[in-house]
Amino acid sequence: MAAALPPVQGDLQGQKVVVIGGSAGIGHASAARAYAAGADLALAARGAERLEKAAKDLMAAGGRPVAYEVVDMRDRAMVASYLGRQAPFDHLLLPGAGVYRTTYADLDEEKARLSVDAKFWGQFWSAYDARAHMPRGGSITFYSGVANRRPVPGYVIGAVIDGALDGCTRALAYEFAAEKIRVNTISPGVVASSFVDRITPEVKKELFDGYARKVPVGRVGESDDCAQAAMYLMTTSFVTGQVLRVDGGAESVP
Ligand SMILES: NC(=O)c1ccc[n+]([C@@H]2O[C@H](COP(=O)([O-])OP(=O)(O)OC[C@H]3O[C@@H](n4cnc5c(N)ncnc54)[C@H](OP(=O)(O)O)[C@@H]3O)[C@@H](O)[C@H]2O)c1
Repeated sequence: MAAALPPVQGDLQGQKVVVIGGSAGIGHASAARAYAAGADLALAARGAERLEKAAKDLMAAGGRPVAYEVVDMRDRAMVASYLGRQAPFDHLLLPGAGVYRTTYADLDEEKARLSVDAKFWGQFWSAYDARAHMPRGGSITFYSGVANRRPVPGYVIGAVIDGALDGCTRALAYEFAAEKIRVNTISPGVVASSFVDRITPEVKKELFDGYARKVPVGRVGESDDCAQAAMYLMTTSFVTGQVLRVDGGAESVP
């Protein structure tokens, strides 16, 4: 039996949403929310099999087509060409990037550079290259993270990238104003998305238990918490240049 779509939040009828990183985790939950709200949806990610399943699951639940295509955020030319083929589109969500997790002592220059390429430059150039393909009134959403506001063990490079993304959000909101495109960033806390597939159960337990103990809401996030935030940013036309913290209140503790 097909999984049910999430509850409808907002209205994206007649609008096209492109999600790079839409086959899993926060991106997939956001795609499901957008689709449930009536959007014409296009998903991209690197892994073909998971991407196809993600798109087909949505189609089975909603009965409308979902476009999907293999794209790697680290390859600017590939992303630019993909965006051209999807044009015109109204909203661009960019959760598709991983960050290399390591202790500071074991930091590796090449891997650090690859993380910055994927998560910072990937999102930065995607926005730049999307500009020509977005009608007025649309929005771009970046994904940073809590690590630059609160140290998260193993995510020094993540902190660097998150800070750069948060830092450029207002500047890009200004640069995109002439095109009437809004630019915002979602900054997730620790979220139980598919990224946990890449860490050991011991590390996961330590990370999740520690985070839940620390934050005021007493739990880690779900992908759908960030999906609800993405819907808010796509559908609220008076909001731009914001870094929206979806982190259970990580900074509201001493
Ligand atoms: N989950 C957390 O605790 C957390 C905390 C802070 C920040 N964030 C940020 O939130 C965003 C989403 O994270 P998530 O937890 O949802 O991750 P996730 O569960 O690992 O899902 C990532 C999605 O992006 C795709 N992707 C990864 N690298 C890609 C690339 N180079 N090009 C295109 N697609 C790519 C993945 O599919 P493929 O692997 O097949 O490409 C998958 O669809 C990321 O920027 C992450 O750093 C997450």
